[in-house]
Amino acid sequence: MKHLIDPTDLSVEETMSIINLALDIIDNRGKYAEKCKGKKLATLFYEPSTRTRLSFTAAMMELGGNVLGFADAASSSVSKGETVRDTVRVVENFADIIAMRHHIEGAQLAATEVSRVPIINAGDGSHAHPTQTLTDLLTITRELGKLDNLTIGFCGDLRFGRTVHSLIKALSRHKNIRIVLIAPPQLRLPDYIKQDVCDRLGLEYKEVDSLEEAMPELDVLYMTRVQKERFLDEDEYEAVKDSFVLDNAKMALAKEKMAVLHPLPRVNEILEEVDSDPRAAYFRQVENGKFVRMALISSLLDWSADAAHTMPEMEEVEVPGHLRCENKKCITRNENSPRRAYRASDGSLRCRYCDHKFK
Ligand code: NCD
Repeated sequence: MKHLIDPTDLSVEETMSIINLALDIIDNRGKYAEKCKGKKLATLFYEPSTRTRLSFTAAMMELGGNVLGFADAASSSVSKGETVRDTVRVVENFADIIAMRHHIEGAQLAATEVSRVPIINAGDGSHAHPTQTLTDLLTITRELGKLDNLTIGFCGDLRFGRTVHSLIKALSRHKNIRIVLIAPPQLRLPDYIKQDVCDRLGLEYKEVDSLEEAMPELDVLYMTRVQKERFLDEDEYEAVKDSFVLDNAKMALAKEKMAVLHPLPRVNEILEEVDSDPRAAYFRQVENGKFVRMALISSLLDWSADAAHTMPEMEEVEVPGHLRCENKKCITRNENSPRRAYRASDGSLRCRYCDHKFK
């Protein structure tokens, strides 16, 4: 069975086959109009979403399939205390594939432990967002014609921004990628990504304090919203919310051929004056999200019975009895769940569900 919980659940070959399928869908729309006829996608969204949920829905409709689900956990049995694992055991009877968004980190990995149908992670807390990553990879491919030999700037909330975490992980598998991290000190990239992705895999990165300084060398600028809902302290959010704002003056410092991406929604980190710049790719990125989800849904359905497409093995280690995941938003701290761990490159034990340390 093939699920998509983390971008690296797909091999580079599988990722590229999805990107190439999306490109073919763009060129031959009619060919795919009945690709998923008779199939059902369940969208289980426990956390607000506009484009991701609508994008999944539109994708399945354009493949000739049907969609069911909920957009608000309050209207589901979760409000009665049902666990994610139980919800999935129920929904798999009604759907061929499930896309789930959850504020609890690792919820979708927990779902895969019981599910008989493919599970797609449509965002888990501040942890991962692999379908946005596929969207971003397709957008970079269409805007710049390649996925290697690129300098990519990540700006804004690199701490809580799950789209950033997943895209960096995916890019670490491509050749000659350099990343420039532009964030206030409070919103820097988590250590597990710096150590286990950048350092271990040799992804070159540097941290800079100003967007102006980074601008001239970038092929891609990935802007992000400061994730207000992830802050435990309102004052802390207020202090950093307007740290970096992209405007035409900063765009004037950039290369002529570059692309500005943003997973959206934006708050005020990109001024509207930038929208008419041909390098502003964020609204084209939204449409790419639909095409890549069409390619993903149809591939996972095709692959679900194919022994050649399974989940990658990860070596896990036993967790000593007194230790628990330090992350309060982890599934293991919110639902009755086994503890699962792997050993990180710095020797520490990390939670298999959310990548935080044990303590
Ligand atoms: C992102 C998300 O939900 O993580 N949006 C999206 O999926 N397009 C980014 C964000 O909310 O800032």
